[in-house]
Amino acid sequence: MKAIILAGGPGTRLRPLTCTRPKLLMPIANRALLDWTFERLSWAGVSEVVLAVNYMAESLRRYFGRERYGVKVKYSVEPRAMGTGGPVKLSEKLIKLEEEETLLIMNGDIWCDLEFSVLEAAHRRNVSRGAVTTITLYEVKDVSRFGVVELKPDGRIAAFHEKPSGRVKSRLINAGVYASTSQIFSYIEPRRTSMELEVFPRLASEKRLYGFQHKGEWGDVGKFEDYLKVNFKVAEALAGEKPRVEGSAEYNSTVKLVPPVILGDGVKLGSGSRIGPNAILGCNVKVGENCQISNSVVFDGVEMEGDCLVKGSILGEEVLLGREAKITGGSVIGDLSIIAPKVKLSRKVYVCPRKEVNKPALGPKRIV
Ligand code: GDD
Ligand code: MG
Repeated sequence: MKAIILAGGPGTRLRPLTCTRPKLLMPIANRALLDWTFERLSWAGVSEVVLAVNYMAESLRRYFGRERYGVKVKYSVEPRAMGTGGPVKLSEKLIKLEEEETLLIMNGDIWCDLEFSVLEAAHRRNVSRGAVTTITLYEVKDVSRFGVVELKPDGRIAAFHEKPSGRVKSRLINAGVYASTSQIFSYIEPRRTSMELEVFPRLASEKRLYGFQHKGEWGDVGKFEDYLKVNFKVAEALAGEKPRVEGSAEYNSTVKLVPPVILGDGVKLGSGSRIGPNAILGCNVKVGENCQISNSVVFDGVEMEGDCLVKGSILGEEVLLGREAKITGGSVIGDLSIIAPKVKLSRKVYVCPRKEVNKPALGPKRIV
């Protein structure tokens, strides 16, 4: 099996954090999102991956190099944004599929515990019934933000609707992982185009599109709420009732750790601090005395002085919080920003990287 991963979206909805990193390098439980995927691809015996890159292509190239988890990595660099279809077509020349070899195509911004080899097996069965592509499906309550499929009892997809505005009966959405034969390339034109708006509806109308339902964990990390949710799910699975310490951490018995908690290597926690539930602290995070951190993700190298509160929020790399700073309600601080002592940022205040914030703010608001 070989794979193409769409890795070029600008990650607009995750700004300010994606001002300084591509979406696929956002940490999930202290590990880049795409590393989770690469590991699963290697488990499934995928030999080669083409990363279809565009936004911040160089960062991805530097990070993943030519091989990751034993999987060979190639890069298809686009001259300009080409949607979800154009990059797949452009990658065709970098992928040499053996006869009957399965091609995986996936959105890089999803985290899931799908076993790709199980999808492949389901796809092989569908191919014998005429399938070109098998789409992984996932059941959700609100389908409006996704591609939605109408599934026949025999597993064939009768229709595909991308982000439907009206009512649809189905709750099965496109999970963004596809197994395909090489015939898929002949359905995509070499231009800016969308798999969801052009390719899948046509395959469905030709009765060559099938579905495979994934029943494990799945999440798109394209929005902050979902990004946090995925992190907490993974933290719960990894850490459970015991705090997970990755390497060495320093703290004394006055610190209260409320699971799930993940502490990166070199974390230091001041006396009287309360960390968790749902707290993921990256490497070398330094927390002063009597701080409280819950339902939050704190990136590497963040430092906070005493009596800070971080709740339901995200602190980017090397952010500094002055004494008694309070960051709450889905606020997000870009890398290297400095929040002055006693400043309160509540309710979706988004601070750009390298800013100095000296005044309180109530969002929704961007500080640029
Ligand atoms: N190389 C490249 N070039 N990649 C791109 C481009 C581009 O121009 N535009 C987007 N991508 C990548 C994104 O980085 C992401 O990994 C993937 O394509 C999907 O784009 P999103 O912008 O994240 O789409 P979405 O989340 O709104 O919707 C898609 O995913 C849903 C599941 O999460 C669709 O495939 C929906 O049908 C699906 O339900
Ligand atoms: Mg997405």
